[in-house]
Amino acid sequence: MSEKITIDYSYTFPFITENDINEHLKNALDAMKTLEEGTGAGNDFIGWRDLPQKMLSSSELKEIIEVANEIYEKADIFICIGIGGSYLGAKAVVESLLHPFYNTLPKNERIGPKVIFAGQNISGRWLEAVLEEMDRVDSVYVNVISKSGTTTEPGIAFRNIKQKMEKKYGKIEASKRIIATTDSKKGALRTLANTEKYRTFIIPDDVGGRFSVLTPVGLLPIAGVGIDITKLLKGANEASSYCKDKDIATNPSLTYALIRNILLNKGYHTEILVNYEPCLHYISEWWKQLYGESEGKNGKGIFPASVDFTTDLHSMGQWIQDGQRFIFETTLNIEKELSSLKVTSDKEDLDGLEYLAGKSYDEINKKAMMGTLVAHYEGKVPNIVVNIPELNSYYLGQLLYMFEKACGISGYMLGVNPFDQPGVEDYKKNMFALLNKKGYENIKNNIEEKLKKLPQGKITK
Ligand code: PA5
Repeated sequence: MSEKITIDYSYTFPFITENDINEHLKNALDAMKTLEEGTGAGNDFIGWRDLPQKMLSSSELKEIIEVANEIYEKADIFICIGIGGSYLGAKAVVESLLHPFYNTLPKNERIGPKVIFAGQNISGRWLEAVLEEMDRVDSVYVNVISKSGTTTEPGIAFRNIKQKMEKKYGKIEASKRIIATTDSKKGALRTLANTEKYRTFIIPDDVGGRFSVLTPVGLLPIAGVGIDITKLLKGANEASSYCKDKDIATNPSLTYALIRNILLNKGYHTEILVNYEPCLHYISEWWKQLYGESEGKNGKGIFPASVDFTTDLHSMGQWIQDGQRFIFETTLNIEKELSSLKVTSDKEDLDGLEYLAGKSYDEINKKAMMGTLVAHYEGKVPNIVVNIPELNSYYLGQLLYMFEKACGISGYMLGVNPFDQPGVEDYKKNMFALLNKKGYENIKNNIEEKLKKLPQGKITK
């Protein structure tokens, strides 16, 4: 077992060759140099590169831990409000490291607060359930997170949750239980936080949403449920150092960016991130946002998809094995076993499964992974394997940083600005117009005309 994240790309041959690697390596190294020297497009959003080290030596880390400890000790429920980059990183780490049924554990076994995410959708049904939960307990803390401070989903969710908090505790106590993470100066959330005298944490100007997991955006929610964020940052810091190597044998971010771009050049334009542990589901969701928003622009980019195996082998397995050949997989392999649970023996063997008795579930899962790797490889699906020595906060910190750095390199290799997201504004304009927001009148007429042409035009009524 290694002590760092490593990439094994043996299963990408012969779909790619050593010649391809030699040919594209310079491009990858140039892209890395551009990123490190800060000379590329979007270079006002590369503050995430040295965040781990900065955070570890900052007084802010202490403040985050202090507030998180208060939440951990006093809250029955900790509600984290945010969407996209203001939610996925925290959700990914929390789900990866907490007990699979954490929120339903008896209080004495859980110790920390239940954690509930809100504002990541516009579902009234979801928010109603969150508000109901608030009625069931004595102590609620809220962390509302928005860099712009103007995002609709968390904005409206916070309206209802704020009102409920004020009803439950009175304005003054509510304001002590609400923590806002936002811009230092601008945005409606900043104005609100200043007016209501909430405690606040700042999202640095030079860190974009999807790269913000190691700022207070991710760190407060993660620490609020008792996860060691110092270890997470130390892991990320370690990765930030080995991800500077110019050698693909020792720098997994360089290797990963290089191999996936070679595959793209060969027509493999869809990447499926694969895991074999359900708790990693949200690591994939975080990764999809990171790569999707960073690379999918100007008609370019690898489409990021994900599956949870072995569950999805029973739904998507057929397609991956045998469907159109434009996909490659990236498999997350946790090297150290997570559980020692073994299959029990049943001598009658009516189910014919006695051959598995005494074997650990993790061992069987690993064999499923190996069998699948070979099957998919033989089905002409190239596979990159990301080896993670152990599932803990230290290695998750390494993994998150490795993927971030690779994303920057990969975006520059593709020739896009990996740090903007102009495309996400389009649906918002239409939605605002349809909701009669001031200033969107012209768009409204236009979009209503377009909607009439669709069979679903009736939905405007
Ligand atoms: O990566 C991004 O920039 C986005 O996903 C944002 O994080 C998301 O839209 C939420 O934005 P905000 O934090 O401004 O509410």
